[in-house]
Amino acid sequence: MSLRFSETRPCRWGLIGPGTIACRFARSIQAVPEASLDAVASRSEERARDFATKYGIAKAYGCYEALLDDTSVDAVYIATPHRFHFEQILQCLEAGKAVLCEKPLTVNAKQAEEAFEVARQQNVFLMEAMWTPFLPIWQQVRSWLRDGRIGQLQQIQSSFGFRVPRTKGHRYLDHEAAGGVLLDMGVYNVALSLWLVGDAPLSVYAQGVLGETGVDENVSVSLQFANGVLSQFLCCFGAQLDNNFVLYGTEGKISIAPFFWDNGSATLQTGVESEQINSGVGDSGFEFEIAHVVERMNGLHVTSDVLTPSLTLDTLRTLDVIRKHIGLRFTFE
Ligand SMILES: NC(=O)c1ccc[n+]([C@@H]2O[C@H](COP(=O)([O-])OP(=O)(O)OC[C@H]3O[C@@H](n4cnc5c(N)ncnc54)[C@H](OP(=O)(O)O)[C@@H]3O)[C@@H](O)[C@H]2O)c1
Repeated sequence: MSLRFSETRPCRWGLIGPGTIACRFARSIQAVPEASLDAVASRSEERARDFATKYGIAKAYGCYEALLDDTSVDAVYIATPHRFHFEQILQCLEAGKAVLCEKPLTVNAKQAEEAFEVARQQNVFLMEAMWTPFLPIWQQVRSWLRDGRIGQLQQIQSSFGFRVPRTKGHRYLDHEAAGGVLLDMGVYNVALSLWLVGDAPLSVYAQGVLGETGVDENVSVSLQFANGVLSQFLCCFGAQLDNNFVLYGTEGKISIAPFFWDNGSATLQTGVESEQINSGVGDSGFEFEIAHVVERMNGLHVTSDVLTPSLTLDTLRTLDVIRKHIGLRFTFE
């Protein structure tokens, strides 16, 4: 792709899977002048039309393939349940569309390796839509850490959990859709720990409970890194957890308030000072990752330098190990 996107010729996006999170994407993209949401595809023509009307999208397709055949679409946002990401990523890449795919990028590391290899061969952009590292508060947290404001990092503690609806067939509990708390919520605790430490863990210890549908509903994990840092986290479908993320260092701590993955606030506390940053970007927040994708495409890059392929791959490898510990294997793998 040699075209440079701008306000006059924005990067034209299409999205597939107009469900819950797609709404947030449709709101957020309006804050990125170099991007526009021009097409939506659903498995149902009616759902596509309703979504298009709600968000002022010009084109509505009643099947995903039609969007891939639309030569005016530059990039696709994939917002379907995890199980379907791998196949849909490959279809988009083969159609020459840049891809931003919801977390987790794929169900396991092997699929992600293949997806990044296809993206490289096709010379097409691919990134996991793990939006949190792009948020200003998380950029600030990383700077505080890098600048040694809390001394040497020792421990990370975090949790992600709330009582999810137990509606039959909901993707959270659906084994066939690759449901379960680890891939849905724990992926944040893992990815952000790896991003902040800047390394993959040396060892992983995990305990987990599988529910009646055969997916994990209650998980506790400890990661140990080569530099001596430990990251411990809980994720749970059955209880409201603290949903915060705390970094403890030799000289102080950084706390990211609930909901840590979202647009909240972060506080730096040392013996003598306390500093707080609030994001104040409302209920959208995906604009930072969308703007990043467009900027990388303008620079003719096919990967991100923030949410790098190695961060996604190390995260999925870690999730693979945790799943082995807790005995979670999907029947379709
Ligand atoms: N970044 C974040 O903050 C965030 C938050 C929540 C979820 N997510 C991720 O986004 C993805 C979607 O989550 P969601 O909560 O938006 O899910 P959702 O509300 O169930 O929406 C998913 C959409 O995918 C389409 N789909 C295609 N095949 C499907 C199938 N076999 N079963 C169900 N739906 C199917 C459906 O749209 P059509 O049938 O109309 O095509 C559906 O509306 C997940 O991978 C999740 O991890 C990310």
